[in-house]
Amino acid sequence: MSKIAILGGRGMLGTDLAKLAKSAGLDVAVFDLPEFNITRPSDIQKAVSSADIIVNCAAYTHVDKAETEKDLCRDVNAIAVGALGKAVRKQGKYLIHLSTDFVFGDKSSKKLNESDPPNPLSWYGSTKLEGEDLLKASKCRHATVRVEWTYGRTGVNFITKLLDAAAKFPKLKVVGDQVGSPTWTVDVSRALLCLAAKQAEGLYHFSADGYVNRFEVAKFILDSKNLKKELSSCLSSDYPTPAKRPSNSRFDCSKIDKILDFKRPAWHESMAKYLKGVSSPDFDLTL
Ligand SMILES: NC(=O)c1ccc[n+]([C@@H]2O[C@H](COP(=O)([O-])OP(=O)(O)OC[C@H]3O[C@@H](n4cnc5c(N)ncnc54)[C@H](OP(=O)(O)O)[C@@H]3O)[C@@H](O)[C@H]2O)c1
Repeated sequence: MSKIAILGGRGMLGTDLAKLAKSAGLDVAVFDLPEFNITRPSDIQKAVSSADIIVNCAAYTHVDKAETEKDLCRDVNAIAVGALGKAVRKQGKYLIHLSTDFVFGDKSSKKLNESDPPNPLSWYGSTKLEGEDLLKASKCRHATVRVEWTYGRTGVNFITKLLDAAAKFPKLKVVGDQVGSPTWTVDVSRALLCLAAKQAEGLYHFSADGYVNRFEVAKFILDSKNLKKELSSCLSSDYPTPAKRPSNSRFDCSKIDKILDFKRPAWHESMAKYLKGVSSPDFDLTL
């Protein structure tokens, strides 16, 4: 049986991945703060030597705070990832690393594939891109998977933020000029396990199927929950945030589709399940 180490395994994605990996019969070891700190070389060595497959979900993910906590963000998202790559190479293991649509700053409406030039608009995005590059330079056996607009049961995400706001305010404004694919962490986990089973290498984009703007997502969530609110659309420029967000996060997922053993669900199908309280997958795991 393969042993899998999940770094950042108590975060939003890591929690679902650990659950799914266990139900697929894998031997799972979870590493996270405070006992595991990816910026400590000895912690990296210990985690890498504990398993055959390592999945790095650990990251500094406070996108706006990153604009002021620059060193910490870079240490976790870039420098530590390079060190992780070197340890994985030295020990002859296989790594899956998670990255983000924030490496892009595209203004068109084209579907972005893995060869499209990155252009991060934020410090968080720059550090995630540097992490990808340092990992590549380490020459370890690895796949980097860029995901976007993820939501899951653990932690804060755009669904929990919207529902919190809806509980407090009768009128809500949501940006309508950012387009992407809201993606359930259960679906991401399933894709990661497919990659792990094949030990696929390279750069991949993964998201749910279909594209939508954030205003339309908010409308879908409120309608699904039967919450009657006055919802209107605004521009990102109406609500400037410390970190700029990309307006185009349409992923072309045709590369990863060739590896997956399932059809990527439409964003609204998975979100409807999530909103109904489904937390475990309704598919068979054949690994
Ligand atoms: N959420 C999204 O919309 C999104 C979109 C695109 C890509 N991603 C990427 O997906 C991956 C997983 O993110 P997520 O959504 O699961 O984020 P998350 O919930 O913030 O999980 C990240 C985990 O890493 C831990 N961590 C932070 N600093 C660490 C350190 N120095 N050493 C060890 N662990 C550390 C965090 O612990 P604390 O909570 O204690 O800090 C947390 O448990 C990340 O690579 C992220 O960049 C996320």
